[in-house]
Amino acid sequence: STAPPIAAGLLAWYDRAARRLPWRAPPGDPPADPYRVWLSEVMLQQTTVAAVGRYFAEFTRRWPTVEALAAADDAEVMGAWAGLGYYARARNLIACARAVAAAGGRFPDEEAGLRALPGIGDYTAAAIAAIAFGRRAVVVDANVERVVARLFRIETPLPAAKPAIRAAADGITPDMRAGDFAQAMMDLGATICTPKRPACAICPLIDHCAAFRAGDPERFPAKAPK
Ligand code: ADE
Repeated sequence: STAPPIAAGLLAWYDRAARRLPWRAPPGDPPADPYRVWLSEVMLQQTTVAAVGRYFAEFTRRWPTVEALAAADDAEVMGAWAGLGYYARARNLIACARAVAAAGGRFPDEEAGLRALPGIGDYTAAAIAAIAFGRRAVVVDANVERVVARLFRIETPLPAAKPAIRAAADGITPDMRAGDFAQAMMDLGATICTPKRPACAICPLIDHCAAFRAGDPERFPAKAPK
């Protein structure tokens, strides 16, 4: 199955330019360990990639599997989380590890089952389904919202634009390489399609971008008048 042009161009760029992050499989490889994908995505809720790195290394060294984390002392996990903030996330992390371990140690491989676990919302369920299980899922975080709002020059301000952005993201999501596509969109938003002064000259999607064509990418996502 051939990816539509936007996905094909983005995946070709990702093959060359993917950030090598510790929880990631290299582009085109089989998916990474669901435990590592889940742990990284929970840590990345409200925390930057740069800040997460050493916490991810420490957690996976001390607790290499979901069973190991499930068996850990609450206080040790909370201590290791110190500095990441949003401590409800750490409480949910422990509860989720115990639920997965009690169910046999395997994460659900579909969005609905993932969403039923503590601390896993729509975004995280879609991200894990795509990145850890290769499922086609529409993965929309703030970076992806910005990329899509610019590609399609969506004039509605956030948050009202969310359904239109999700529909547009759905329309460009390929059936194959779902995890690579999701992470490519995140990387594009983090490194090229940045909020201020996007690097359109080196963007792999320049020929597909309505906001670039109109000369006003920084206007998107649109802001509600104050
Ligand atoms: N932010 C949240 N999840 C991410 C991922 N898998 N890669 C890069 N940035 C992310």
